[in-house]
Amino acid sequence: MIKLSYDINDYRKNLLGLVEDGDTVIELGCHVGGTTRLLADRCRVIALDNSPEAIGEMAKLDVEFISGDVRLHDVIANVFEITQSCDVLAIDLGGGYHPDTVFKVFYIWSSTFKPKHAAIRNRGLLEFVNSASVSGEDISSNEGYLESYHDSGIPPQIKEFDLWTSSLKK
Ligand SMILES: C[S@@+](CC[C@H](N)C(=O)[O-])C[C@H]1O[C@@H](n2cnc3c(N)ncnc32)[C@H](O)[C@@H]1O
Repeated sequence: MIKLSYDINDYRKNLLGLVEDGDTVIELGCHVGGTTRLLADRCRVIALDNSPEAIGEMAKLDVEFISGDVRLHDVIANVFEITQSCDVLAIDLGGGYHPDTVFKVFYIWSSTFKPKHAAIRNRGLLEFVNSASVSGEDISSNEGYLESYHDSGIPPQIKEFDLWTSSLKK
């Protein structure tokens, strides 16, 4: 199941409703752990953020924290060394963050770790979904990733990020 929201309280409620005790959760955009705290005693949490503010605060929690940019191939590869799958993928890069980037991050991380469920916080994606008039074709997923692309494999490098986002260049 994929749950999409903008309000942070809805995001947390969605996420807590998806996780089960003992689950492995990958959390992208944990900031200082406001949501992580709600999961840490129930789940194995692998949390990521690229903000310097996150480092000290996340060290106080009993979770695996990685300081890095979740758009980068090396960062995904780093997590893939820790786990090859997860039960729940949570993505909050900031509610107003570019929806195209958030969708790409969702697509690449969910294709890689094949979560049962995903919770995403993003206003633009929610606006798109709520505004689109859709055809009657039965194309949907019961998983936390897109089943249509289940066998497509993982892009070896996220080349498109270099094409679209100049701030990504090292
Ligand atoms: C709204 S905050 C997350 C709040 C958190 N989910 C919570 O519930 O308290 C968004 C976070 O996403 C992080 N972020 C944005 N883009 C990122 C990226 N490309 N890689 C890693 N973290 C990113 C920011 O550093 C920020 O800490």
